[in-house]
Amino acid sequence: MKREKVIGRANVEDTPELEAYYASLEGEALGALWNVANDIEPWFPQPKSVPTLWPWKRIEPHVRKAATLVSAEKAARRVVMLVNPGRREWSAAAGLLYTGVQIMNPGEFTSAHRHQASALRFIMEGRGAYTVVDGERLELGARDLVLTPNGTWHDHGIDRGGTQCIWQDGLDIPLMNSLDANFYEVHPDVVQTPAPLSRENWSKPYSPVFRYGWEESYSNLRKSAEHSPFDGTVHEYKNPLTGGPIMPTIGAQLQLLKPKEETRAHRHTGSVIYQVAKGRGWSAIAGERFDWEEKDIFALPSWALHSHGNASSTEDAVLFSFNDFPAMRALALYREEAG
Ligand SMILES: [Fe+2]
Ligand SMILES: [Fe+2]
Repeated sequence: MKREKVIGRANVEDTPELEAYYASLEGEALGALWNVANDIEPWFPQPKSVPTLWPWKRIEPHVRKAATLVSAEKAARRVVMLVNPGRREWSAAAGLLYTGVQIMNPGEFTSAHRHQASALRFIMEGRGAYTVVDGERLELGARDLVLTPNGTWHDHGIDRGGTQCIWQDGLDIPLMNSLDANFYEVHPDVVQTPAPLSRENWSKPYSPVFRYGWEESYSNLRKSAEHSPFDGTVHEYKNPLTGGPIMPTIGAQLQLLKPKEETRAHRHTGSVIYQVAKGRGWSAIAGERFDWEEKDIFALPSWALHSHGNASSTEDAVLFSFNDFPAMRALALYREEAG
């Protein structure tokens, strides 16, 4: 119990009578709100997630080893998860977001399935990767982004003539489980037969574009007029039909920091998972400094003050990130403030 000496906050001292009373409530599956009110209604968000950096140098050997220990077929998805120390129970990388790194060899594939969780993949390396989304076959190269929105059938693989491929998966699995709204289905066929997908009268709640190629996205980022003192130059991946986010629960963006650029600090509700797409630099999160370089992944918990900097005096730094802002905004929970 946390007591607070503030009018309007719970501040009840324990007595033998009260302790006996609390014990009697427990037996009836009841409880006294004033014993937990200050904890369950904090003044501001108190995430269990902690700011975490997973340097690629530390992830990579484990990911490569997985490819020698377990088959893609048996694992269904051969992924090394990035688990936030404060959110193990939820298999979350931060807040309501899950992330993992998947590895596949030429000729391997995952069987077709769909789930309530929305998903995206950001390709880290390799040639010959493809994803089939609702029948549409998409070829993927390094730093391409592909969406497998909630409810879409999808399977992945690597062409026989390709190389070992690695990518980051991002999903809102913890959100689905927090809402008790998760479903999972396997496709009647092991893999989908590719077929053209009609976009006529598109009324789905997600982008009709499933593949966002790196060349185009990076060029849009460099041309972007959107500059924020907190994020640098920004290019958001958008649903071209609405101008809104790519999926109803997950948004994604690229941000570019010019040589030696340092952003101002801010904070917001919602969590963000970053992957360094180019360059090297640092992020200060809740007073802790994290130095990053290409392919490193790091997690920003909700409401943690953060700023970013490019460590190079000659090269741009680019961060790819995905977030749960669309879910926060849909529920009218998004808040932001300068540090
Ligand atoms: Fe999936
Ligand atoms: Fe931010």
